[in-house]
Amino acid sequence: MSGDTPALRPATLVVHAGRPPREVDQPLSTPITMASTYVAGGDLEYGRFANPTWQAFEEALGALEGGRALAFSSGLAAGATVLDLVGLDALVVAPRHAYHGSIGQLGDLESRGRIRTTLVDISDTDAVIAALDDAAVLWIESPTNPALEVADVERLVEAGHAAGARVVVDNTFATPLLQRPLELGADIVLHSVTKFLAGHSDVMMGALVVRDDHLYDVLKGRRDLVGAIPGTLEAWLALRGLRTLHLRVERAQANATELASRLQGHPAVSEVRYPGFGAILAMVLGSAEAADLLTHSTSLWVHATSLGSVESTFERRRRWKGEAATIPEGLVRMSVGVEDVDDLWADLEQALDRLG
Ligand SMILES: Cc1ncc(COP(=O)(O)O)c(C=O)c1O
Repeated sequence: MSGDTPALRPATLVVHAGRPPREVDQPLSTPITMASTYVAGGDLEYGRFANPTWQAFEEALGALEGGRALAFSSGLAAGATVLDLVGLDALVVAPRHAYHGSIGQLGDLESRGRIRTTLVDISDTDAVIAALDDAAVLWIESPTNPALEVADVERLVEAGHAAGARVVVDNTFATPLLQRPLELGADIVLHSVTKFLAGHSDVMMGALVVRDDHLYDVLKGRRDLVGAIPGTLEAWLALRGLRTLHLRVERAQANATELASRLQGHPAVSEVRYPGFGAILAMVLGSAEAADLLTHSTSLWVHATSLGSVESTFERRRRWKGEAATIPEGLVRMSVGVEDVDDLWADLEQALDRLG
């Protein structure tokens, strides 16, 4: 887009940001540039440092989040890059119910004496603030995966900064359409692009977005050194997926809202967790056995991990060894897709009815 475009709304940015220049014979969509090296003397130089296809994705995501984006090979590669900046023995405060892979990274660093961690209930703002003391990093995930707790991002950012901490927000569940943490003052936004941004269960990719140019250079420097870069095809697929993010999120959210309300009324469901926005919800069934039976009794809902795709998927989270023991054994996390909601409900209802 040209530099003087007036501020555009997210649904327009999703479609237009990161396009090639509007010049005669330029393609409308960014092509896949397969290249490990470039003719010397320009900005690209080598395939580990830059690629025009990643850059188009980064421009689009940066425009959506209101910062400068860096693409990574996965969400966890992006997270590891942030944690790599934490000084020896420094304190990271993080949600006890964050994605279990993120908790795993923190636990691994702590067990090797690299950092200290305090895990908190991120929805209990006062408890988080009380834990901040000498924190170097406040790690927020909101809503959390899979507990669906919501953090008061604005207050926590303020408190984190007052304590001298850098504030990171994993925005994977909300997407920049529903929450823009940089506008709330956060320092770093993290995405598992694998999920809603790419949106079709066919890409592994991650991203960081920042406003501060120095921090951008530091993170880009780490990516250059470590090489946790995305594949070119992945970046192209993620950008193609991103073009319909607003439509997918709108439809999936409407479906999730409706399903949350219908699930509340089913006798086999003891609890429904839905933050009121987004496309992820969780239902708690009476036992692990009931949850396992449910996830094997549907024909539309796919029993699979991951989330944020066009098709509806679900799983019992405690089937993973790394999931927190405070997550109920019978909790089924549901990633609601863009199908017809009545078909989704009929498939779920017949499976729930079997539980008696
Ligand atoms: C909230 C959240 N953050 C980070 C990740 C890690 O992303 P990836 O699987 O792309 O490495 C996930 C993956 O499930 C996630 O759900």
